[in-house]
Amino acid sequence: MFPVAARNAQIAPFYVMEIVKAAARRQAEGLSVIHMSIGEPDFSAPQSVQEAAIAAVSRGATGYSAALGIEPLRQSICAHYDRAYGIQVDPARIVITAGASGALFLALAAVLDRDAEVLMPDPSYPCNRHFVTALDGQAKLVAARPEERFQLTAESVVAHWSEKTAGVMLASPSNPTGTSITPTVLSAVLSAVRERGGFAIVDEIYQGLTYDHGPRSALSLTDDAIVINSFSKYFGMTGWRLGWMVLPPAMVPVVEKLAQNLFICASTVAQHAALACFQPETLATYESRRQQFQQRRDFLVPALRRLGLDIPVTPDGAFYIYVDVSRFCTDSWRFAFDLLAETGVCVVPGRDFGFSAPERHVRVSYATSMANLEEAVERMGPFLARRAGPRS
Ligand SMILES: Cc1ncc(COP(=O)(O)O)c(C=O)c1O
Repeated sequence: MFPVAARNAQIAPFYVMEIVKAAARRQAEGLSVIHMSIGEPDFSAPQSVQEAAIAAVSRGATGYSAALGIEPLRQSICAHYDRAYGIQVDPARIVITAGASGALFLALAAVLDRDAEVLMPDPSYPCNRHFVTALDGQAKLVAARPEERFQLTAESVVAHWSEKTAGVMLASPSNPTGTSITPTVLSAVLSAVRERGGFAIVDEIYQGLTYDHGPRSALSLTDDAIVINSFSKYFGMTGWRLGWMVLPPAMVPVVEKLAQNLFICASTVAQHAALACFQPETLATYESRRQQFQQRRDFLVPALRRLGLDIPVTPDGAFYIYVDVSRFCTDSWRFAFDLLAETGVCVVPGRDFGFSAPERHVRVSYATSMANLEEAVERMGPFLARRAGPRS
C-alpha cells in the first residue's frame, strides 16, 4: 500500500460526479439529459479573447511570467474596478492566479497556521473546506439560515469564534445558493473579524453576475480583506485557469514568494488573452450574457415555485438556485437520481455543500439555454405531481 497522508481521509470527492456519471451513462444509451448540474457558464470565451490567445501564441508570448502576473493585466483589472465599481485599487495589490482555486489556496497558505480554524457558511463551496484541510487547518462550518441569505452574519461569527479561530471565508454571490451578502451584513462581519484580529477571505468569483442590485465589492468596504476573483464565470473562461486576488498591501510579498514557489505563475497565454476581456465590445458581450442569465432566473425561479418547490431565498446572482425539496422526499440524493432516471433532468444533491440539511436540498443551475429550462420544467411537473405530499 503506498503511504497516503492521513489528512486525505477528510477530503471528500465531488459527489456531484456520481450523478454526472449516471447522466453520461444515460446519454450513452441514447436518452436525453438536460444538465442543470453544471457550475460553468454555457458561454465560452468571446471571439476577441480567443483571437488574443492565438496572437499571443503566434508572437511567442508563451514563457513564464512574473509570479504576480503580467503588468498590463494587473492594470486592466484595476481599471475595470474603477470603471465598473467606482473603486480605486493599486495594481501592486493584484495577484494573477490559476483560477479562483489557485487564489484561494495561495491566500490560505499565506494566513493559515496548522490546526487553526476557519469559519465558513454551511452550505458553501465544498473546496473551501478541503483547501483548509489540505493545509492542516480546521474548517468550521456554521449553519447559515435562509433568513441570513445563507451567509455568515456578525452574530454567527461572534457566536462561533473560538481561541483557535483564525478567520472567515465567504462567497458573494454564493455557490450553491446564488445569494449575496448585503453590504451592511458584510461590513458588520468584517468589523467582527477585525476586532478579533482575524483574516477575511471574500470570494467574488460570481461578481458581475448579479440581477437585483448594482455592482458590489468588498473592496468598497475595506482594504483589509483578501478578495478573490476569476475569469471563469462572468468572463466565460473556466478551462483557461485564470483568476486573481486583491491583497491588503502588506500581504503582497508573502503571497509573491508563495506564488513563485508553488505555481511559478499563471498561464501566460491565458493572461495575454484575458486583456481582451476589458475591451468595450467584449464587455458589451458580457453584459448581454448577464442579461440572458437574468432572464433565465426570472423564468426559472417562479416556474419551480409553481411546481410546488420551495426556494427559501430568491437568488440574486451566480446561476444557481438552492431548492428545498423536502416536500417531495426525505433524501435529496435519491430524489436527484430518481429525477434523472425518470425525466433526464440532472440537478446536484445538497450533499456536496455541507452538513446543514443537505438531504433537503438540491442545487439547480441555469447555465443552460432557455429552451432547455422550459423543457426541464415541463418534464419535472408530472414527476413532482407523482410525489407531492399534502400542501401545508
Ligand atoms: C464559489 C467558488 N469559488 C471558486 C471556484 C473555483 O473557480 P475557478 O478556479 O475556476 O476560478 C468556484 C467554481 O465553481 C466557485 O463556485
